[in-house]
Amino acid sequence: MNGDMINVALPKGRLGDNVYDLFAAAGYRCPEIENPGRRLTFENPDVGIRYFWVKPSDVAIYVEKGAADIGVAGKDILLEYSPDVYELLDVGLGRCRMAVAAPKDFRDDTRKTLRVATKFPNIAKRHYSSIGRDIDIIKLNGSIELAPILGLSDVIVDIVETGATLKQNNLEVFSTLFDISARLIANKASYRFKRGEIQKIKDSLQEAIR
Ligand code: PRP
Repeated sequence: MNGDMINVALPKGRLGDNVYDLFAAAGYRCPEIENPGRRLTFENPDVGIRYFWVKPSDVAIYVEKGAADIGVAGKDILLEYSPDVYELLDVGLGRCRMAVAAPKDFRDDTRKTLRVATKFPNIAKRHYSSIGRDIDIIKLNGSIELAPILGLSDVIVDIVETGATLKQNNLEVFSTLFDISARLIANKASYRFKRGEIQKIKDSLQEAIR
């Protein structure tokens, strides 16, 4: 691996496509990535950049461990995993919110422990401990909306973007915890040793966002 390149972890999927478009607009195009096949790494030595696609929830791990110098991860992932990285810029993409949602007729019976299904146990625990509510966490990996429908949980803590998934499953937002957007993050050592290059990418992205 060429140590002079900046290694960038991009979140696979629609957010990642938009993030790549932003990097391209900022001057960091990579023709290889536009015709990907099954490859996972793509580089453009002319601009000193190497991209790789990873699962969105893994971006922060790659960056924290230094396998990537920088990456783009949702604020949800940063708040759930608290990786030891620098958060450099809100790139304004992937806007959504973290919310508690429940069936339309849900009333919280505070005499009972609340059963909360979620992909984000740390965020859920922090929220309920801040309001002093006893909960049991049911950790799921997807299709969270099924849990209250099938009686597996009372509520869910999950991402709401358009609200369509909730609506189509007769659920509604009970309370909003925080807004989410994608953030440019950097490995701490990389930021020290490749500060010039990383700062230049950040400034170019900021310019392209404007
Ligand atoms: C996310 C989230 C919700 C849905 C919200 O799921 O967990 O289910 O998107 O979007 P909406 O408000 O626009 O309907 P995702 O598509 O990532 O799938 P999964 O969590 O079920 O794997």
